[in-house]
Amino acid sequence: MASIFHFCSFLLICFTCMFTFMGESATAVIFRPSPWALAHATFYGDETASATMGGACGYGNLFQNGYGTDTVALSSRLFNNGYSCGTCYQIKCYQSSACYRNVAFVTVTATNLCPPNWSQASDNGGWCNPPRAHFDMSKPVFMKFAQWKAGIVPVMYRRVPCGRKGGIRFSFQGNGYWLLVYVMNVGGGGDISSMFVKGSRTGWIRMSHNWGASYQAFSTLSGQTLSFRITSYTNKETIYAWNVAPSNWNIGLTYSAKVNFH
Ligand SMILES: *[C@@H]1O[C@H](CO)[C@@H](O)[C@H](O)[C@H]1NC(C)=O
Repeated sequence: MASIFHFCSFLLICFTCMFTFMGESATAVIFRPSPWALAHATFYGDETASATMGGACGYGNLFQNGYGTDTVALSSRLFNNGYSCGTCYQIKCYQSSACYRNVAFVTVTATNLCPPNWSQASDNGGWCNPPRAHFDMSKPVFMKFAQWKAGIVPVMYRRVPCGRKGGIRFSFQGNGYWLLVYVMNVGGGGDISSMFVKGSRTGWIRMSHNWGASYQAFSTLSGQTLSFRITSYTNKETIYAWNVAPSNWNIGLTYSAKVNFH
């Protein structure tokens, strides 16, 4: 038994190596939707969705960065310390007279945290208090599926793959000795479990999770071409984004990879 097991794991390792060497396209693990589950949804801000900008995921201006107004703030239970930033959901308004019957569901991306409010009961205003699964939507997207005057509606939701155009984007902050990268436009599961950076004169350096969708490396990387290695939180797939930033990279700029998850 043991030798068969070892032989199998040897085969598995060989396949993994082979796929890794062949590059990102060979691994192509498709993330499938989760089952539907019950929750509730409210909205925050107004029709302009300006309140949704600069959310806890660190995506900044959601119009500039491609997320638009179809976004949601997750309760802490769903937010998972920021590891759920960038994940996508279909949300159906469920069994309320406020639901628009001609709308099957809306599709949203998680861009923010809906923090608990312990001065309100979790069934009376403290909608985002643990252990509730709750979606605090932008007002424009809430208005697509329910009458906003309802304030709160029951919903059914499920995780779905994120359809993104183009490659993963890396927005740089920090300085010459501290690289802080906001990772945006992530397809597939939409989330990240770990990330490494490689300068043209360094090996792979593990980046630590800062907050939201940002990762950091305390290393001197200025003047080097930078590559990233990113592993999906959802399905553990790893992709390589080679030479994303040229050697004259700068903070305040965003660099696009050619690759993405699907
Ligand atoms: C929490 O709830 C209280 C009571 O409704 C309210 O006054 C307060 O503004 C809320 N805090 C936050 C941060 O929303």
